Amino acid sequence: MSALDAVRRRQSWSKVTPEAPTREELLPLVAAAGRVADHSSLRPWRLIELRGEDRERLGSAIAEATGDSSPSSKPLRASLLIAVVASYRHSDKVPRWEQEAVASGVAHVLSLLLDEAGWGVIWRTGGYTRTAAVARAHGLGPDEELLGWLYVGGKPGKTPGRRTPVDAEAVLSRMPAARTDGDAAPAQDPGKAEGCGKKAKKKAKKAAKKAKKRAEKRRKAEKAERRLRKAEKPS
Ligand SMILES: Cc1cc2nc3c(=O)[nH]c(=O)nc-3n(C[C@H](O)[C@H](O)[C@H](O)COP(=O)(O)O)c2cc1C
Repeated sequence: MSALDAVRRRQSWSKVTPEAPTREELLPLVAAAGRVADHSSLRPWRLIELRGEDRERLGSAIAEATGDSSPSSKPLRASLLIAVVASYRHSDKVPRWEQEAVASGVAHVLSLLLDEAGWGVIWRTGGYTRTAAVARAHGLGPDEELLGWLYVGGKPGKTPGRRTPVDAEAVLSRMPAARTDGDAAPAQDPGKAEGCGKKAKKKAKKAAKKAKKRAEKRRKAEKAERRLRKAEKPS
């Protein structure tokens, strides 16, 4: 199967059957996923397999983080969870966000390879993902952070619904036209875009409005996460 076909066919499986790949089956896929672009080859990531009772320990850590009296059953939704860890390396050249991008790339590629190998996968997180209790349960170091878990299992008979197809025309644009008055052009200036027809201008305006809303939502979520992490910091 070509990479294009594999990517087009991949989809997340929120429900999976109890079968799971063995460690031996996982190893070549992990090695291949590690081939993602990696600035300065820092390898700023690692993975943790959670099987059997490990998932119950994670359930207890989630309960500790959320203040629930009984362990969370969420980790029991698949018999294999792969925790994705960003392991930040000291570098004057490669900031943390670039290192997190590498770890995220590994998770995406591994999901794709598992899917292509016939396994059902879904990447999950939760408000508790970066809490101290959950970090402790995974044995994370001070320079490590979780990016969530790949839940892996067998693909059940019923295929999950597919996401709306990506409108490539809407997301692939050109830089805004250069301005001659010395002022920096605004990040989104759809009305002045070079060679835009009326329809394209309207579409670009709508996309800019949507992007603004998304950015606002993201800012709010980041603020909430910072607050949560501050509250979770061991004193
Ligand atoms: C970092 C990250 C975290 C995610 N966390 C969750 C989650 O906690 N729960 C969930 O239902 N989907 C989560 N998703 C989305 C699913 O993994 C999946 O992409 C989504 O359901 C769309 O399905 P598709 O991949 O088939 O298009 C997350 C995705 C990413 C990349």
